[in-house]
Order: sequence, then C-alpha cells, then structure tokens
Amino acid sequence: MILVSGATGGIGGEVCKLLKHAGTPFRAMCRKQEQVESFRKNGMNAVSGDFDRPETLAAAMQDCDTMFLITPPTPNQLGQETAAIDAAKRAGIKRIVKLSASDSNVRSPVPWAKTHALIDHHLRASGIDWTILKPTAFMQNFLWFKEPISKGFLPQVAGRGSVSWVDTRDVARVAVTVLIEDGHESATYFLTGPETLDMRAAATRLGDVTGKKVRYLNLPKPVFAALLRVTGNSRWMTKGLVVQFADVVAGHHDIDPTHEIERLTGTPPLDFTAFVRHHRGQFVKAE
Ligand SMILES: NC(=O)c1ccc[n+]([C@@H]2O[C@H](COP(=O)([O-])OP(=O)(O)OC[C@H]3O[C@@H](n4cnc5c(N)ncnc54)[C@H](OP(=O)(O)O)[C@@H]3O)[C@@H](O)[C@H]2O)c1
Repeated sequence: MILVSGATGGIGGEVCKLLKHAGTPFRAMCRKQEQVESFRKNGMNAVSGDFDRPETLAAAMQDCDTMFLITPPTPNQLGQETAAIDAAKRAGIKRIVKLSASDSNVRSPVPWAKTHALIDHHLRASGIDWTILKPTAFMQNFLWFKEPISKGFLPQVAGRGSVSWVDTRDVARVAVTVLIEDGHESATYFLTGPETLDMRAAATRLGDVTGKKVRYLNLPKPVFAALLRVTGNSRWMTKGLVVQFADVVAGHHDIDPTHEIERLTGTPPLDFTAFVRHHRGQFVKAE
C-alpha cells in the first residue's frame, strides 16, 4: 500500500490518477474530510492526515509500506517533512519517494532550496529506503502570469538566465514509475524538460502558440516583488522568488537537460510548446 501525500495538489493529484490507472493499491492523504470524501466518490482509497498535526499520521500511515512525500514551500516545510519521516519510521514504512528540488543546497539563499537539502539529509539518515526526485523549475509556474501573458507581456526578473523547465505531468510519471518498480533505492534523480529556455525564448513560444505577440519584460526587482505581492504571494514567498529568479536563474545556475525522464519512464519529457498548447485557453484569456 502506497500513501500519497499532497494528493489534492498538482503532482500528488496526477500521481493518484496514474496509480489508479495502473491498478496499484494506494491511499490518498488529505487534510480535509470533504477532500477524503471526494476521493472516495471517485473510487479511490483516501484518509485524513495533516503534517501540521503529527498525531494524525499514525492512523494515516497504518499498513502502508511506501510513501510519496510532498509538501508545498512554506516556512513550515522543514518541520512538516522531518516530522512525517519520523512518523513513517515509527509506522513501519519501508520506503519514501520524496519530491525535492534540483537546486537543493544547505547554503542556498533560496529558502526552499535550503529546506529541501536539509530534509534530503534527514531522509537519507533515517534508515528508511529512499528515492529523491529533484525536478528543476516547473513549466506550470508560467500559469502564475497567465493574465499578463494574455495581454501580451511576460513579467520576470531573470535577465538572460535560462531554465531547463519541466512539466509537472512528467514529474508525476517518474514518481509513479519509481513508486511501483523495485531498484530505485538510494537513488537521486535530477528531472528536467528536453530543452533550456530563457524568458525571451519562452515568450516567443507563448506567442507562437497563442497567436499573439508576447514580450518579455525584465522588471526591476522591487517592481517584480510588488507584482508578486498584489497577486497574493506572501512576503516570504515573494522574497524567495525574487532571489530565485534574479540571482540564481539570472546568474545561469540552473542545470542543463538530463535524460532521466525518458530513461526511467521510456517516454521523452514534454517540451514547452506542448505545455503551452495544453494550457492555451488560460494563456489566451485569463480565467
Ligand atoms: N514550483 C517549482 O518550480 C518547483 C520546482 C521544484 C520543486 N518544487 C517543489 O514542489 C513541491 C510542490 O509541489 P506541487 O506544486 O505539486 O504542490 P501543490 O500543488 O502546492 O500541492 C501541495 C499539496 O500539499 C498539501 N498540503 C499542504 N499543507 C499540508 C499539510 N499541513 N499536511 C498535509 N498536506 C499538506 C496540499 O493540500 P491542501 O489541498 O489541503 O492545501 C496539496 O495537496 C514543493 O515542495 C516545491 O518546493 C517546486
């Protein structure tokens, strides 16, 4: 039995769909009872569990041998995931597949990159078998800017820096492969899309698919930060995103494409054009 955390999120939700399709037994973990009911209505096994309430985890993890571990980037992420790993050990879980990040580094100025590195170390030292997935930045991040993109502008702060963007659907495919197959113990997989694009090239692709010119606006840091704040990001998230794009990406610190997605799943990763085509409706007219 596989326990899937983050089951209501982008990657965890896709993992549940793929596991259901494969006929593999799993249990979706959700924070709210109505989410549990919704999974059950759709024919999936589900349980309530909350990483902020470790007392809920023993019941959620009961009889599970494997866990897919994912939490969103927040100041609580280190505490949530280390508590989850400790609870998994007590519950007798034998293997954890953890979603980390390609830039994880204990000395990183990007808060979630540092947090993922600390959690990776905690997991590797836990005595539980582990597989760590390290995707680079998600193509889905472009949906944050669907409104300005639909008006012909891609606002960013990344200079000429580029990223080997990955589609979260490919990250989920890898997660399911390694959750189902043996032989991925003590492995760390760096996951990227098939190509590296800077913001100008991404804007051109967005324009090609939407049929409307999209111009990259390389904003000053305070203006980009203000834009992130008015679109609902917390102060903590805004500060982290500015450092991530203005320092790390603009400084050309992202990784080159790897071939791990095709090697592990037998199918090449989706490219940026396929991603934009899939979400064309949102980029043409923001919902
Ligand atoms: N964005 C990027 O470019 C990028 C790149 C590499 C790695 N990452 C990593 O990817 C991860 C995010 O993945 P995602 O986009 O699939 O996440 P997501 O869509 O934001 O989903 C997060 C999930 O975590 C659940 N959750 C939140 N708080 C919880 C708690 N206290 N206990 C249990 N579950 C909780 C949410 O449930 P609710 O529905 O209840 O909120 C949701 O199901 C982060 O760790 C991030 O660092 C992101």
